[in-house]
Order: sequence, then C-alpha cells, then structure tokens
Amino acid sequence: MAEGLSVYIETYGCQMNEYDTDLVKSILVESGQRLSESEHDARVILLNTCAIRENAHSKIYARLQQLKALKAKSSHQITVGILGCMAQNLRNDLLDTHDEIDFIAGPDTYRELPGLIARSRETSDKGLALRLSRSETYSGVDPIRSGGVNAWVAVMRGCDNMCSFCVVPYTRGRERSRDRKGILAEVESLAEVGFKQVTLLGQNVNSYEFGPFGFAQLVRVVADVPGIERVRFTSPHPKDFPEPLLDVIAGHPNVCNHIHLPLQAGNNRVLELMKRTYTIESFRELVERIRGTIPGVAISTDIIVGFPTETDAEFEDTFREMEEIRFDFAFIFKYSERKGTYAARKLSDDVPPEKKTERIVHLIELQKRITGEINQQYVGETVEVLVEETPKKDPGALSGRTETFKNTVFPKENFTIGDLVDVSIERSRGSALFGRAVGYATQGERKVRAG
Ligand code: SAH
Ligand code: SF4
Ligand code: F3S
Repeated sequence: MAEGLSVYIETYGCQMNEYDTDLVKSILVESGQRLSESEHDARVILLNTCAIRENAHSKIYARLQQLKALKAKSSHQITVGILGCMAQNLRNDLLDTHDEIDFIAGPDTYRELPGLIARSRETSDKGLALRLSRSETYSGVDPIRSGGVNAWVAVMRGCDNMCSFCVVPYTRGRERSRDRKGILAEVESLAEVGFKQVTLLGQNVNSYEFGPFGFAQLVRVVADVPGIERVRFTSPHPKDFPEPLLDVIAGHPNVCNHIHLPLQAGNNRVLELMKRTYTIESFRELVERIRGTIPGVAISTDIIVGFPTETDAEFEDTFREMEEIRFDFAFIFKYSERKGTYAARKLSDDVPPEKKTERIVHLIELQKRITGEINQQYVGETVEVLVEETPKKDPGALSGRTETFKNTVFPKENFTIGDLVDVSIERSRGSALFGRAVGYATQGERKVRAG
C-alpha cells in the first residue's frame, strides 16, 4: 500500500469517538502512515462523525463543503474519509450526494482503514466498509493518546437497549465487552506513562460482562492499579445499576463520587414510549439508594424535551422531578428525530420547534439555579482537585475537577498539572468553583495502597 501518507483526523461526538480516534491513529501508524496536526499538510483527511442529533449531521455537512473547496484548489491528491456513526447511519446516501468523500467506514471496520485508503488513492471507486461486528473490540490495538491527565478506556462497545429515540444501536451494533485482562493491561500501562485518571466508557457501562466478571468487579480491579489516582465511568443505565457498584464507589477513595445517570424524562408514559424500561418511581428509589450509600455523591443526568406526543403537563412532570431530585448538572436536549429508530417509524415528531425551545429554556434556567445552589454549598469547604490544565483566560491559575466533577480554579503557586491538590473554596460562579490551594491532597488510604 501507499506508505508514509500524512493523515489528519477530526473527532466529533462523544468520548467513545475520542477513544476510537486514538485506535484509528494506532492502526494507521502501524501501517506506516504519519499523523498530521493540520489539514493543510495532510494527504488524507478523516472525519470521525456523530449521528446522535440532527445538528451533529449539520456540522459535518458544513465541514464537507470546506473540504470540497480545499480538495478543488489543492495541487496534490487529498483523500477524504468519513468514519464513525454518521458513516454507519447514512451509508450510500452520504457517498451518493457528496463527491468529495472517497470512502466511508463504520465504527467496527477500522482495521480495514489502511486498505481503504490505499484503494481509494489508486482507483476512483468509492470505498465502503460498514459491517457491524458482534465481537470486534479492537483487542491488541494500543490507542495513541495525545497525553494529559485523563485517559478514556472503552470497556464495551455497542448497545442493546434500543431506546426508541436513539440511533446508537444502529450505528454501533450489538453490545460486547472487552476482555478484562486487556483492559487491565491498558490501565497499567496508562499509570506507568503518567496518566492519573481513567474514565471507563460504554454506552451502557453497567452491562459490562466478561464471563463471570461484571462491571463492579471491573471497577474494583481498575481502582487497585497503583498510580491511578481517580477512576470515573460513563454512562450507567438506570434500569440495571448493579448494587455492588455502590459499595465499590463508597469503599474506594479513588473511585469518584459522581454518577451520570440519564433520566431522559420525568413522566412514566413518556418513559415507556422512550422504551427506557424504568419508571420515575424506580429511578427516584435508585437516586435515594445512591445518596444513602455514597456520602457527598454528585448525580448528573441527560434530559430530552419535546419527545413525540409529550404534552405540556408531561413536560411539567419532568420539570417538577428535576426540581425535586436536584441533579448537580444536566445535559438537556431537544428531541431530534433519527431515521430508522422506533420513534421515527411509529411516532410523529409533533412537538413544534417553538415548544421544544420554550421547554429547553425553562429546564436550563431551572438547572442553572439548582447547580448554583449546590455549588454554593462548597464555599468554605476544602475539596480535593486533580489539576488538569491552565485555564485559557488566566495563565496564572490552574483548573481541575473535584471528585464530584465540579470545575475548580485556583492560583497556580507551585502546583502543576497532574497534582492532586486540596483547595479551599472561596466562591462559586456559574458552574465553577474558585479557591486557594492549601497543600497536596493526603488520601491516606490511597497512598498506602499505591506505595
Ligand atoms: N448511552 C448513553 C447515552 C448516549 S447519547 C446513555 O444511555 O446513557 C447521550 C444523550 O443524548 C442521551 O442520554 C440522550 O439524552 C441524548 N439523545 C440521544 N438520542 C437523542 C435524540 N434522538 N434526540 C435528542 N437527544 C438525544
Ligand atoms: Fe442510546 Fe439508550 Fe443505548 Fe444510551 S442506552 S446508547 S440512549 S439506546
Ligand atoms: Fe457517540 Fe454520537 Fe456515535 S454520541 S456513539 S459518536 S452517535
């Protein structure tokens, strides 16, 4: 195949796509390609795309327009490949309507990329790799990460839940879990090269299952890897949250006290239509159990407004539930119809756009207030922060997250990225906390285990 091409990759969508981009980099470098930081000196441009809502698609269409122009004026051959969920979802439609695309490859076909690139440079045929696999977990591929404090680690791929609004089961196929030995080896090597935090990823992480080994056990062994100061995971599904996981979080100081638990809607008729398979009552019971077992836990969520047939009264139920549950933060989305899903086939997208806007504005306002009130309670407390970066607006400061995922900013002094620092919180503004470092964090139990 053609050797030594410079490849530039752009990533859209969720953390799973970020992780996949690092897998793709590894596969390409292994096959002799070079990675490029800029589209301007690249011979191959790859977009790793998302399909979750229509605006994810729109971004890519706009980007393709620019790439079309870039290709037209370039003196050398540029190959454009579309990877990820939109490739899988739109298939031939994308190739038929966009000349500038040379090939498309879905999330389970990345091992074929070197061949796809070579073929599309040698022939004018459009390449297509869209097979979904029941077993591909990219075992043996060592992701090339760009560094930092946190590393994403996919522990499972695909989703079997078939929530009626969601395209993911169609773009990423059936659920499959990675061999725990491979995961552990990856985490150990991450600790060795200096990563402080790992975030275990899956569309539904708590359905992780490798032989008799479930998600709670996986989190426990990952937390015991020396040098890993923090373990996070996302996202668990409320329908089957494993009880032992709560004990693992409560019992391990380095498993963060933060759970992202997508509610989606606060009304049982809507939840049923969404095929979420839990009720608002069982969700609230789970929240109580989580709060009862893990002191100081933060719970965040995802909400969709304007799901087909959602009435004003049903939306009010969601509003009231959010007011009562008091999530630490929430990602709130307007329903976006996805082709091929149950909701698209059986229900009409009948909530008018103005109504969706009105509902989302209300919920965002409510959540801002609640987030502000919860964060205000941190003032006067000392919290442990894992330093992640220098804020763009303030080079004299450092910022990082509390265990509960609050962004925290404090004067740099002698601290540096990667440190675990105790910060005394002086004020809160918006979703951020501001304070002053009082020293390195002394997590006694953790130091003993790691030392
Ligand atoms: N697997 C994760 C969700 C991944 S998608 C989970 O179940 O927790 C992230 C969020 O996008 C979802 O929780 C949902 O709130 C939102 N989402 C998914 N499909 C959507 C659609 N068609 N329209 C609007 N929001 C959607
Ligand atoms: Fe989509 Fe539901 Fe699977 Fe999450 S659990 S990825 S919302 S189908
Ligand atoms: Fe992620 Fe978007 Fe695919 S959210 S799983 S990249 S549809």
